[in-house]
Amino acid sequence: MNLPNLKEAQKRTHNKIPFLEEEYEVNDSLKELGKGKYYYIRTYGCQMNVHDSENIKAILEMMSFKETDELEKADFILLNTCAIRENAHNKMFGFLGRVKHLKEEKPSIITAICGCMAQEESVVDALMKKYKWVDIVFGTHNIHHLPYILERSMARQTQEIEVFSKEGEVIENIPVKRDSKYKAWVNIMFGCDKFCTYCIVPYTRGKQRSRKPEWIVKEVEDLVKKGYQEVTLLGQNVNAYGKDLENPCNMGNLLEMIAKTNIPRIRFMTSHPWDFNDEMIDVISKYDNIMPYVHLPLQSGSDRILKLMGRRYTKEEYLNLVSKLKAKIPNLALTTDIIVGFPGETREDFEETLDVVKICEYDSAFTFIFSPREGTPAAKMEDKTTLEEKNERLQELNELVNEYANKKNQEYLGKVVKVLIEGPSEKGNLMGYTETMKLVNVDGKEDLIGKIVDVEITSVKTWSLDGKVV
Ligand code: SAH
Ligand code: SF4
Ligand code: F3S
Repeated sequence: MNLPNLKEAQKRTHNKIPFLEEEYEVNDSLKELGKGKYYYIRTYGCQMNVHDSENIKAILEMMSFKETDELEKADFILLNTCAIRENAHNKMFGFLGRVKHLKEEKPSIITAICGCMAQEESVVDALMKKYKWVDIVFGTHNIHHLPYILERSMARQTQEIEVFSKEGEVIENIPVKRDSKYKAWVNIMFGCDKFCTYCIVPYTRGKQRSRKPEWIVKEVEDLVKKGYQEVTLLGQNVNAYGKDLENPCNMGNLLEMIAKTNIPRIRFMTSHPWDFNDEMIDVISKYDNIMPYVHLPLQSGSDRILKLMGRRYTKEEYLNLVSKLKAKIPNLALTTDIIVGFPGETREDFEETLDVVKICEYDSAFTFIFSPREGTPAAKMEDKTTLEEKNERLQELNELVNEYANKKNQEYLGKVVKVLIEGPSEKGNLMGYTETMKLVNVDGKEDLIGKIVDVEITSVKTWSLDGKVV
């Protein structure tokens, strides 16, 4: 048994990051382990978790398991969890209730929990004490071990827990079963060393580790060969890409290399304002296949709160960066993340945030109420603001954000834009996204799926656009 340890997870050393670059293999005996069995995966949290689930699916299929999206049909049920806020926890534990019923009816079902919550001491403690029926818990550093963890669990009938709390390595060649044939997630780095005072991610995902550029380029080249239209480069802080590599390469260099593979669309997320340099802005504006879309988390507009959050930029620096981006990247779409009710946030601090929203005119924003995370410094900070007040601030902020989202969308009316058609929409038409990441419902035939087409925008809502192919 390997239990998580937040103190260990917090440590950062100067030790070299191990690169595991051999072929990924499983023993012959394990290849039959899932024969005749179905797996069901439910994924919470960010794109990184979504992509981890794509890896897990491929590993399970190497073991002859088959995927099902019907919970009731599954022999192996896996929840890939997120720890970012309390409500992510609540959702997972809520769903676990349903799984428990199924397990009572059919005890042979194997149940497992992985992802960021598995890295938390208190969660694993609760799983060991109150959820003994959960068969397997494995951490974010243990995904490639899954076949062996499953084998041990099936042989032993006791709760199997394998969670490493370490800086982590870079593991290449983990197989992947992608959810889409047109859009692909590509990890460029793992972990985070920023330690923003409210955030659990540096504890759940380990030290910042960049993949070598040659491996990333090779992955994108393979995707181009397979006909993929879009890649999204993933990392908690993509702008800090390469800082930890032995042979220097920065995000500007990497973006340029990927642009030259001629993949039609390149996106990247998430950008931290602190590492966004001019070279990177120049590269984005130089290549047509790097999308004019930047997600640039603000968190707060108050310098005092930004300092308490450990964000390493001021309101003025943030605004300077935004005006540079807008000046150099025509028709840039800008989105953000904002936290309200950080400990000690006053009405004046909150108004600084509203001020930034008014200046930046975001295309959209994800807004959250601060959620204390065990083990992080902000969880221990004094917080006098009532939840009621925080809710009021959130509502006020959302109203302002929606006003600009609507205003930005209105600018599209009558315009012709490029849309990558991804599939049928809920309304029976087609749906896809513009270069600027606007959701468009399109009138058209199914043979357009997977293609980038010119669409005229015929009507506009706050969260989506309607259009017809021209
Ligand atoms: N790496 C990204 C953020 C990843 S987490 C970045 O640095 O921008 C996604 C968002 O969740 C964050 O941008 C933040 O707005 C929010 N978030 C993180 N921790 C939170 C907490 N403890 N309470 C509320 N929101 C939080
Ligand atoms: Fe969390 Fe900050 Fe790292 Fe983003 S940069 S993942 S908010 S610690
Ligand atoms: Fe959640 Fe972990 Fe992503 S905490 S947001 S799944 S890195």
